[in-house]
Amino acid sequence: MAFKKTIIMKIKNICCIGAGYVGGPTMSVIALKNPQIIVTVVDINKDRIDAWNGPLDSLPVFEPGLSEVVKETRGKNLFFSTDIDSAIKKAEMIFISVNTPTKTYGEGIGFASDLTYLEQSARHIGRVANTDKIIVEKSTLPVRTAEKIKEVLEAESRDNKFEVLSNPEFLAEGTAIDDLLNADRVLIGGDETESGKKAVETLVSIYNSWLPKERILTTNVWSSELSKLAANAMLAQRISSINSLSALCEKTGASIDELSKAIGMDSRIGPKFLKASVGFGGSCFQKDILNLVYLCKYYGLEEVAEYWHQVVKINDYQKQRFAKNIIEGLNGTVNKKKISILGWAFKKDTNDSRESASIYITHQLLEEGAYVHIYDPMVKKDQILSDIKYLWESTEVSSKLQKQYLKNIFYHKNHFSAIEQSYAVSILTEWDEFKKYDWEKLKKSMIKPIKIFDGRNILEIQDAIYIGK
Ligand code: UDX
Ligand code: UDX
Repeated sequence: MAFKKTIIMKIKNICCIGAGYVGGPTMSVIALKNPQIIVTVVDINKDRIDAWNGPLDSLPVFEPGLSEVVKETRGKNLFFSTDIDSAIKKAEMIFISVNTPTKTYGEGIGFASDLTYLEQSARHIGRVANTDKIIVEKSTLPVRTAEKIKEVLEAESRDNKFEVLSNPEFLAEGTAIDDLLNADRVLIGGDETESGKKAVETLVSIYNSWLPKERILTTNVWSSELSKLAANAMLAQRISSINSLSALCEKTGASIDELSKAIGMDSRIGPKFLKASVGFGGSCFQKDILNLVYLCKYYGLEEVAEYWHQVVKINDYQKQRFAKNIIEGLNGTVNKKKISILGWAFKKDTNDSRESASIYITHQLLEEGAYVHIYDPMVKKDQILSDIKYLWESTEVSSKLQKQYLKNIFYHKNHFSAIEQSYAVSILTEWDEFKKYDWEKLKKSMIKPIKIFDGRNILEIQDAIYIGK
């Protein structure tokens, strides 16, 4: 779609439903770069909103650079509130940034996205809106969801008009602010009708206040929705590809880091996203690929579905392989042994732990009778327990076993106590501080023989056991 001189709508107020990892940082940057627009972020979770309005050093989302942006904008043109109705009424443009997890029930269980929250938000907007609105899908969604949102909005509303745009988020946690400020591209999908084009151009103008037009791509709605799933699938596929080769390296004596460097220097391949690891985590990759698999199956494309499903299967294999290596490295048993886990977040520089490999590895070690001692610089005890309980509930672990396992989980506020007297240390997040520890001293506090399993290949110490080496 070429840029045409379409008259844009004047936006004075933006509302965003969902004050999470995406909604919070994205709206903060939009407010920073559009001081003439009042941006109100709303959420049904009062604690979360209170935290957004609370001290800058304990915002609900930890992201480098975020607190500075919030400091600059909060109370001026950025507001966090639980008054969803007023924010909807006031806004000419509403972003929906609620979570869309993988379904845990019914048709498409384990694959399809659960659109309950999205539909609730759309119904809410339809019900209370008293003027025409532009609705922007920020949440990652299955293809053709915009159509369904429009249907719901119009069913609920009496006589207001809604344009639904798809504007998927490509930011990665830990670098969200930089990704927003210097986005490679922003993607906006809209209807090819006159009013659709007007809505698209209106959103373009908001991003254009800090990004050049060449980086703002406009497409039809379905290309935009599918691009998000495809981008995440392609990124995750690189990690599963390199992780599958790490298993082969361990058998053959080749080194995965050397391999990554050698293949990444081919400019057609490129160096990014080739770091072997204990397995990818995060709220997006697994969910979006499973969603893509579901979509392919729905359209009868079994082979295509199987191709992408394999990316998730290799990721599960990598996590299992890592836990198995720990157990085998400790003479086949971790029963009643203290094992330390360094890192719970799914990557460094975030307090998010959704789908983190640490959850699965901890569970496998608990199943084998280990005492698991956990330290993470950012993730709090309650979050760790809630992550592991969520896994148990979704895999139907009996309450008797859950009780037994809980007694064997220990949370530490510092790395030293997590490590001393342990039989093995496993590094599961690539936090910079782990590299700076005095490992010689730490090793002296451990049970011999020393076993350090580096699931991120970040240490440079002699007797550590690395992925793919
Ligand atoms: C986002 C997107 O929504 C998701 O689809 C994408 O794939 C990843 O990023 P994220 O911001 O990371 O999710 O989710 P989360 O941190 O869970 O935030 C969602 C927020 O929406 C929560 O604070 C939740 O309370 C809120 N919410 C949910 C509502 O305000 N209303 C609802 O009906 C449901
Ligand atoms: C991802 C996409 O990158 C982003 O564009 C999209 O909007 C949301 O999903 P995110 O999940 O926040 O972002 O983080 P990302 O940096 O992609 O990392 C995902 C996982 O892959 C992490 O667990 C990370 O440690 C792992 N990873 C990443 C590797 O194991 N090796 C790599 O080379 C890169």
